[in-house]
Amino acid sequence: MTYLVTGARGQVGRAVIDALLAAGKPVRAASSQPEDTRVPTAVPVIGLDPADPASAAAAFDGVDRAFLYASGRGIDTLVAAAKTAGVQHITLLSSVAAETPGNPIGDVHLAVERPLRESGLPLTILRPGAFAGNARMWLSGTDDVVRLPFPDVQQNSIHEADIADAAVTTLTEPGHEGKIYPLTGPESLSLRRMVDILAEATGRPLRMEQIDYEQAAQFLFRPVLDMWAAAGDAPVPVGPTSESVTGKPARTFTQWAADHAAEFRTGSA
Ligand SMILES: NC(=O)c1ccc[n+]([C@@H]2O[C@H](COP(=O)([O-])OP(=O)(O)OC[C@H]3O[C@@H](n4cnc5c(N)ncnc54)[C@H](OP(=O)(O)O)[C@@H]3O)[C@@H](O)[C@H]2O)c1
Repeated sequence: MTYLVTGARGQVGRAVIDALLAAGKPVRAASSQPEDTRVPTAVPVIGLDPADPASAAAAFDGVDRAFLYASGRGIDTLVAAAKTAGVQHITLLSSVAAETPGNPIGDVHLAVERPLRESGLPLTILRPGAFAGNARMWLSGTDDVVRLPFPDVQQNSIHEADIADAAVTTLTEPGHEGKIYPLTGPESLSLRRMVDILAEATGRPLRMEQIDYEQAAQFLFRPVLDMWAAAGDAPVPVGPTSESVTGKPARTFTQWAADHAAEFRTGSA
């Protein structure tokens, strides 16, 4: 039984690899930059260009189960390679945005969901909301000021390890075929509170400075800024969390900050 994990350099891909290893499963890591994955040396790494049939065939050769993230590039090639290899289950990392028709982020993910669903391959789709790891984008690395346009907007951020645990559950246990799981983190927090939590975890005197939309658009995706602008500062709905899939309580943002504090301590995030 070989588990293929694509996007091995990504925060979720790496967490899925770690969770599969912790579960004692044999893993093959695939990446567009195989020399840059930094996965444990016991894990075989293969280069993957999803649009290249030979590359996709090599990545899926002998694979029983696979974790994919929603890169639209080459999805038809990946589907063909998975079918040829006789893959028994695929879990796709999509986005909760796919639940809102016409959402530009959702459309990108639906363009990957659709061919997978139509392929007939046994499939589970994970649709998480905002990742806790997005906090990396807020810190410039040059000072202790976090510049954001809507400091009081709230998020139900999810820890990448919870997405990974849900992915591993769906890949290793029966009963998840054909399911779509929306996932959030376990609490609604303002961005301001999240920065305070990061300051507590890292010991850095982080403080929030409000900037305007166009300044924020220099380093944040406009559809995300538009969602924030529309959201106001009301609490956002929480759940279902990864507990609905794994049976384990979902990790808090305080946990995420503790797990990643070393990254932020020097201001080099
Ligand atoms: N961020 C969110 O809040 C959020 C919410 C819901 C859904 N999603 C979806 O989840 C998926 C992963 O999103 P993400 O934001 O967390 O992206 P990510 O994991 O940082 O990167 C996704 C992939 O991009 C490749 N990549 C290219 N350059 C990279 C670099 N410099 N460092 C690391 N990886 C790099 C990696 O694949 P290779 O190893 O093959 O290069 C990686 O797995 C996407 O489909 C996204 O739309 C994100």
